[in-house]
Amino acid sequence: MNLKQRAEAAIPSGVNSPVRAFKSVGQDPIYVRRAHGPYLETVDGRQLIDFCMSFGPLILGHAHPDVVEAIQKAAEKGTSFAVTTEAEIELAELIKSAIPSMEKLRLVSSGTEAAMTALRLARGFTERNKILKFSGCYHGHSDALLVQAGSGVAGIATASSSGVPEALAAETLVCPLNDLDHLMDIVDEHGHDLAAITVEPVAANMGLVMPEEGFLERLREICNLCGALLIFDEVITGFRLTFGGCQNICGVKPDITCLGKVIGGGMPIGAVGGRADIMDMLAPNGPVYQAGTLSGNPVSVAAGLATLRRLQKDDPYEELEKKTSSLVAELRSTADLNGVTVQIPQLGSLFSFFFKEGPVTSFADVQASDPEPFKRMFAHCLKNGIYLPPSPFEVCFASTEHDANVLSKAAETIGHGLR
Ligand SMILES: Cc1ncc(COP(=O)(O)O)c(C=O)c1O
Repeated sequence: MNLKQRAEAAIPSGVNSPVRAFKSVGQDPIYVRRAHGPYLETVDGRQLIDFCMSFGPLILGHAHPDVVEAIQKAAEKGTSFAVTTEAEIELAELIKSAIPSMEKLRLVSSGTEAAMTALRLARGFTERNKILKFSGCYHGHSDALLVQAGSGVAGIATASSSGVPEALAAETLVCPLNDLDHLMDIVDEHGHDLAAITVEPVAANMGLVMPEEGFLERLREICNLCGALLIFDEVITGFRLTFGGCQNICGVKPDITCLGKVIGGGMPIGAVGGRADIMDMLAPNGPVYQAGTLSGNPVSVAAGLATLRRLQKDDPYEELEKKTSSLVAELRSTADLNGVTVQIPQLGSLFSFFFKEGPVTSFADVQASDPEPFKRMFAHCLKNGIYLPPSPFEVCFASTEHDANVLSKAAETIGHGLR
């Protein structure tokens, strides 16, 4: 049996997370044996320039020496204690100093856990039940958040996964991103029972979709008016766009922030934090229960600290923005010259492709783009040494290790793919 057959015989769909099955790009999945810097090496020895970068954590590239050393040193001292360490306190202090709205924070093991805990906290704090999310935003796979826009006028949603009870899905209201009129209709009807509005401040799970001017500010005002908490899910944007959160750039202060990905440098981690009065609702001092055997795991914490310290020292964000925007400018110009209809939004080291005319400001716009050209471009790139995220809904991630040579090869190959 080959790896695909073995994987499919032992693991549902052959993967431990759905996008890895490559269904959205109509290809056979790849199998990786190692990675370094900007490269993945497949089991058959092919070297691929990686623009997926584990879906975001690896801003310093694969197997960065600081991170590897920190992991090795931590592992030698023990891989789990389930007792508080000084390193955990240090990581919390470092995050808090970079994101001041996180007056207190708790470490968890994934972004999903962070988002799930944020909801429970909001519900416990406000003593309200409903939450509002935006269609196309992803906040992990907990029941309440696995809900997309239904067609009902009030935005009452239907579950987007089998296994999520309708009664629970009905507590999740869904609104199109950037649609403040629609949002006001929902808030007029449900504001009195709204515990939280949760949003990716830059949406990066339906391709890259920016908040329109004033949108996040308005969310803050609406929450203040109706008494709901504002949750920023910065699992992707945290420490990706600047040393801190997207909130440091846009100046809007959420009540609760969720982090993950970069703060663990490629090891499993998440964090939920915010106003001290809200965070103090957590058990054991408060009535909102949350716990985790591996929360604050010393190996994850060591990898996270090493990553954040390197980012703090090198401050690579301007350089990341510069090189990613010049790659994207080159790709846009190739598309223009060849009459290819594509939008390539970019922010910092994030970019994505929408094969359609006109701006993309909502999930409906995203769904109006043609998935076929992306599949062909993905296949072309994979054949020619570039690994793009295996779905048109995922964003591409560049790292500090994507140097001029790598980016020039990428511009050529992706450009050829676009043509
Ligand atoms: C914005 C956002 N929130 C939450 C999550 C869930 O994080 P995890 O996959 O670590 O559970 C993700 C994962 O991609 C994400 O992008």
